[in-house]
This record gives sequence, structure tokens and C-alpha cells, in this order.
Amino acid sequence: KEENAVQIDPARFLSDLHELRKFGASGVGKGVVRPAFSEADVAARRWLAGRFEDAGLRVAVDAMGNLFGLAEGPSLLMGSHSDSQPEGGWLDGALGVVAALEVARAARDSGGPAVSVVSFQDEEGRFGVTTGSAVWAGHLSQQDADGLTDHGGVTLAEARKSVAGMVTGALDPSQFTGFVELHIEQGPTLITAGEQIGVVTDIVGIRDMKITFQGQQNHAGTTPMHLRKDAFQAVSAFNTLLNARFRNVVTPSTVWTIGHMSLHPNASSIVPGRAVFSMQWRDGDVDRLDRMEAIIRETAQEVATTQGMALSYGSLLGLDPVQMDSGLRGALERGAEDVAGGKWRQMPSGALHDATNVSRLMPVAMLFVPSIGGISHAFEEDTDEDDLVAGVRVLAKAARGQGLTLC
Ligand code: GLV
Ligand code: MN
Ligand code: MN
Repeated sequence: KEENAVQIDPARFLSDLHELRKFGASGVGKGVVRPAFSEADVAARRWLAGRFEDAGLRVAVDAMGNLFGLAEGPSLLMGSHSDSQPEGGWLDGALGVVAALEVARAARDSGGPAVSVVSFQDEEGRFGVTTGSAVWAGHLSQQDADGLTDHGGVTLAEARKSVAGMVTGALDPSQFTGFVELHIEQGPTLITAGEQIGVVTDIVGIRDMKITFQGQQNHAGTTPMHLRKDAFQAVSAFNTLLNARFRNVVTPSTVWTIGHMSLHPNASSIVPGRAVFSMQWRDGDVDRLDRMEAIIRETAQEVATTQGMALSYGSLLGLDPVQMDSGLRGALERGAEDVAGGKWRQMPSGALHDATNVSRLMPVAMLFVPSIGGISHAFEEDTDEDDLVAGVRVLAKAARGQGLTLC
């Protein structure tokens, strides 16, 4: 047994992780449906709050519904988020929260260091991009956040009434010395290489906005093709042109997605008069993100002009790329070498994380464990339990290492 080690309890950790999965269980594989502020999300937050109390942590909830379990005095903050995508996996976010709880408990049992736990709200962006941590870190004002709407037209101001009964007040970040987030990789790199741990070097940047083409709703049988102002045809042409034009600008790691589209009125015999769709793009380089935005706007305008559409945009939301803190990262790398000697790597994150926002407030670092089949944001998402436990062990070692250097 290692001297001074924080001894985690893998069975207790896995039991809590499976318990959290019951909130919003989809009934398909291990999947969950637990979007921010839903009944399942609030019930999960209440359950987590109870587990935090059992672990001797003081529960605090801010107006956004970000849930904290606080250790006494200055502490290292660990955690992630417990909301899910509309169709989500059981580990995306949940892993980081329950792992943090286990490390906080284990650290208390072994005499330190002080570890606090957080589950941020709406990391999955029902209302935007990582809205809970964005508000906490001051990237987005509560007032601006409150005006954001989900795809069903519900405002965040309305939705967050579901957590009002839990709110204790604003939470001062100055009590935390740093933030460390364990997450699943959500991609194919580690599993393909047969590796167990990824220590994150940097997190890519993202831009996201809604685009609307407004044409003319009409009869699908009687309206000649050349007289139509078909909003779907506009989106289709836009997408084809955009893919061709991006080719000169992007790298193999640049990604872009139209993930949501709503056609009005969405009926087989009606030429759609309106299309509202999400346009999202991600890259590690801010200049490239800006150039892509210019191409998106030019292309959309060109299509609108050619096809007789009115064009409008929602707010441009986004986060810039960030580097992880070298000190915290070093602690994770030493932990990774201890736990998974030779079977870990440094890697960038193509997924977005709360750590990006928190980096405005304090040093942050992240580590990944493999995703089976590289699948996430889907019910099939899963990770081998040995890999989950390895991730918690690295987190515990880093907490110990970092805690000692902070003392
Ligand atoms: C977060 O889930 C993301 O979209 O990367
Ligand atoms: Mn996540
Ligand atoms: Mn996610």
C-alpha cells in the first residue's frame, strides 16, 4: 500500500455511478435522457446533493443550478456535469462528477487534501454552449443567458425555475485553487491505440448559431418548380456550397455540423416556407473559426439572394480554444504514468468541456479514459469499468500531488 496515497474505493465509486444512471434511464442500453432542468436532471441533482452531504461536503447551488459540494477552506475543485444530451450516454459528464465525489471522500478519509466537487448545469447546451459554467465564470451574463431559448422556444429564465427551490446563492470561485475534470474521450483515439488514459493538452474552440431561411409556404402539387421559394432547397444548396468552400480553409481536425433543423410546417404536401437550423463549427485556431464564419455568412447570403429567401441569424455563441495549465497537467501525467505506465498519451480535446469556462477563473486540467467504439452523444456510449477506475486513480494521485504542492 502506497504511503500517503488517497485510497479510492472502486466498488463505492461504481455503485454511485450506476445509481446516477437511473435518473432518466432511457431503457436503451445504458443510455440516459436527462437534459438540463428536466425532472430527471433536477432529481439527479437532489440525489447528488445528498451524496455530497453524506461525504461531509457543504452543498451550495447557484441561480443557474450549478451544484457544488464544498470542502472547508481553500480546496481543489473537481467535477463535470450531470445533465445529458437529448439522447445521451451514462458517462458523459456523470463520470467526472462521481469520480470527483469519490476522490473528495477518499481524500477526507486519508487526511487531505481538501477536494470540492461540482456538477455544472447545461453543459450539453440545451440553451447555448456550456451555459452553467459560462455564467459562473463570467463569460455570459445571467441576463443574456436568461434570454436564450431551446429548440422548442422555452427560455432559460423559464426553465431554471425548476431548480429555484435548491438555490443557496452565488458561489465565490476564489476558494478554489484549481479545477480538474475527468471525462470520457468521446472519440476513437485511445481505444484504437489500446491506451487507458489521455492527458489533455488543449480544448478546441467552438462557434454555434441558428440560421433561418424564410421563403414562401405553398401547395406541393400546384406550385411549379421555378416559382417556388422552398426553404429546404435553400438549406440543401447552402450545405453543398459550404462543404466545397470550406475545403480550402479547414484541416483534418476541423469539424462542422448542421445537427438540428426545423422545417415549417413540416408536412409532405407543403412546400416548406421556413427552415431554421443550427450551424456549428469547431477548430483549435481562432483565425480559422473567424474565416469559417465569414464563409458561412457569404454563402448563406448568396443562396438567399439566388433563391429569393429572407435570411436571419441568431446570436453567435462560442468559446475560444484554451491550453491546460502546465502544473496541473504535470500532476496528471505523473499519475497516468503510475497507473497506466506506457499506456497513456497527451492529446487535444475535440469535445467541449466546462473546463474551458473555468479556465477564466483558475488553473484547469483534464484527463480522458477510452470510449468503446469511439461512440458518445448516443445511448451506446460506454467504457470498460477497469478504465473508469483507472481514471479515478489518476485523479486521486493528481489531487494528492497537487494538494501537497499547495500546502
Ligand atoms: C459537449 O458535449 C460538446 O458538444 O462537445
Ligand atoms: Mn461532457
Ligand atoms: Mn456531451
